[in-house]
Amino acid sequence: MTKKIIITIDGQSSCGKSTLAKQLAKSLGYVYVDSGAMYRAITLYFLRNHIDWTDIKEVKKALKSINLEYIFNPSSNNSEIHLNDENVEYVIRDLVIAEKVSEIAAIREVREFAVIQQRKMGGRKGVVMDGRDIGTVVFPDADLKIFMTADIAVRVERRFKELFEKNPNVTIEKVKNNLEMRDYIDSNREVSPLRQAKDALVLDNTYLSEQEQFEKVLEWVKTKIVAENA
Ligand code: DC
Repeated sequence: MTKKIIITIDGQSSCGKSTLAKQLAKSLGYVYVDSGAMYRAITLYFLRNHIDWTDIKEVKKALKSINLEYIFNPSSNNSEIHLNDENVEYVIRDLVIAEKVSEIAAIREVREFAVIQQRKMGGRKGVVMDGRDIGTVVFPDADLKIFMTADIAVRVERRFKELFEKNPNVTIEKVKNNLEMRDYIDSNREVSPLRQAKDALVLDNTYLSEQEQFEKVLEWVKTKIVAENA
């Protein structure tokens, strides 16, 4: 039987990590895990329950009441995140969550909580996981690590289009400020900052279509799988 591998995709906000990860998982028959969804769901819980996340005792107590699960939804053909049995896959994409998530994802206890679950999900291999620290911290021994990047103007435009469809009050400025703020916090935090792993392959998709980037990465994947099975 062909040995399965672990593929990690890290990079800044809105450079198309999840689009690529989903395409890869689908074509390989692998599981896709959106690690950012965990931090977003935890943020949703903290906001709804008025948790003071500057108080570590309160954070630890709140984390004990959080259960996260990815459940496959046949109608979207995707695994969707559930927070304490509620499907929150769509609410967590709101800008209100995006405005706070980087602050909460920088808390050591929050990261420890999420990383334990992420490692369990990759235990059987055959996984594509995207995030900020997947190739550096969660799976430092992953078989194929991809580090994605794209120009800020292109990333803002892509995210703006996505958010505007759901909320016409969203402005380009708001989206740009949010992306810049998240990139800054995610790259400068003390615990597991966003870094390119030394052995990662860099994919700059500023001038690539979805199909072009997919074909390029699929070649990288095939080469790895052949090497793993040799
Ligand atoms: O991938 P995303 O934009 O949905 O992630 C939301 C936030 O979660 C992102 O701004 C930083 C944080 N995050 C993280 O710190 N580590 C990860 N592995 C994934 C996301």
